[in-house]
Amino acid sequence: ALDFLQKPFEIDELLVVVDRALEHQRLRTQHTYLISERDEEFNHYGIVGRSRRMQEVIRTAEVVAKSKSTVLITGETGTGKEMVARAIHYHSPQREMPLIKVNCAAIPETLLESELFGHVRGAFTGAANNKKGKFALADGGTIFLDEIGTMMPLLQTKLLRVLQEREFEPLGSERSQKVDVRVIAATNRDLRQMVTDGRFQEDLYYRLNVIPIHIPPLRERREDIPVLVEHFVKKHAQRAGKRIDGLEPRVLEALQSAEWPGNVRELENTVERAVVLSPTPIVGPDVVRLLGVSAAPAPGLPSLNLRQNLDWAERETVRRALDNSGGIKKDAAEAMGISQRALSYYLAKHRIE
Ligand SMILES: Nc1ncnc2c1ncn2[C@@H]1O[C@H](COP(=O)(O)OP(=O)(O)O)[C@@H](O)[C@H]1O
Ligand SMILES: [Mg+2]
Repeated sequence: ALDFLQKPFEIDELLVVVDRALEHQRLRTQHTYLISERDEEFNHYGIVGRSRRMQEVIRTAEVVAKSKSTVLITGETGTGKEMVARAIHYHSPQREMPLIKVNCAAIPETLLESELFGHVRGAFTGAANNKKGKFALADGGTIFLDEIGTMMPLLQTKLLRVLQEREFEPLGSERSQKVDVRVIAATNRDLRQMVTDGRFQEDLYYRLNVIPIHIPPLRERREDIPVLVEHFVKKHAQRAGKRIDGLEPRVLEALQSAEWPGNVRELENTVERAVVLSPTPIVGPDVVRLLGVSAAPAPGLPSLNLRQNLDWAERETVRRALDNSGGIKKDAAEAMGISQRALSYYLAKHRIE
């Protein structure tokens, strides 16, 4: 009840009240509309990002979710590989079926085989019972093979067989089992280089790399930082039960110019700590300095080295111009005030696709 009507009321009084209520409703609708529009714009599937390259990642994830194709997600640690894998599974028709994660690097080599394919009783010393492997557990759903680049050659061969024939044998068993799983693999290594070096099986690489998704490091898409920060502030303020309205502009600038070798994971940790430690609703520079971030050089510059900075400025300008033009080179060159030929030179120089 917005307004309380006195019993003997005039008709125009009623009209005013109704009017006010309608206006209130209109503003509310508009407000939620604005909020959802922002979420829509920069938060798809819980994947936050406004850069052209993240929008591409999201679009590919969206399309591939509908298929059962094998996906290979590459990117540095903390870029969001697992998050994208989950998004794909939970938007696939198999979302009600299991998503099973195996971290190939965390499991000792000798155990990984039985972990993946299971074993029968007596298959090796200590195998007291039959054990189902992750592939069998993921049947009908998705198996997420994280850190696939650490997998040993013998297992690579076995995995290749599952991908080719959709069947495998548990350790110590003669009988093959059929499986129907989608495989999503992830790695922070350069698998192609590993193939060249003879450390990763070429056939397996091609079987995995059906739909490649590369997530660029955060320092190559700094325009995502403000939306990510906003997202994490909201998330962690809510979790901490604290009221945090945002960050002082110079704090945001410091975050935006930091290097983030740990990518989004590192940024999230930093924001979480800032939210928890901040004594004020607006996070000030003291808290972030406490976290060792604003040790970053002058805001907006990556270092104090002139050559490095000029190089960075070139690369950033090209990237932003491309982002702005939606990848259309002619428009990007025009915005930059250079010829298309010159743009091609900078693209090659900085290895931008
Ligand atoms: N685009 C993003 N939007 C929101 N959160 C993200 C994004 N990218 C990464 N994160 C968060 O950062 C952390 C690290 O992501 P994760 O998927 O585990 O990275 P990786 O597997 O590449 O190491 C997770 O907490 C994840 O929720
Ligand atoms: Mg990971």
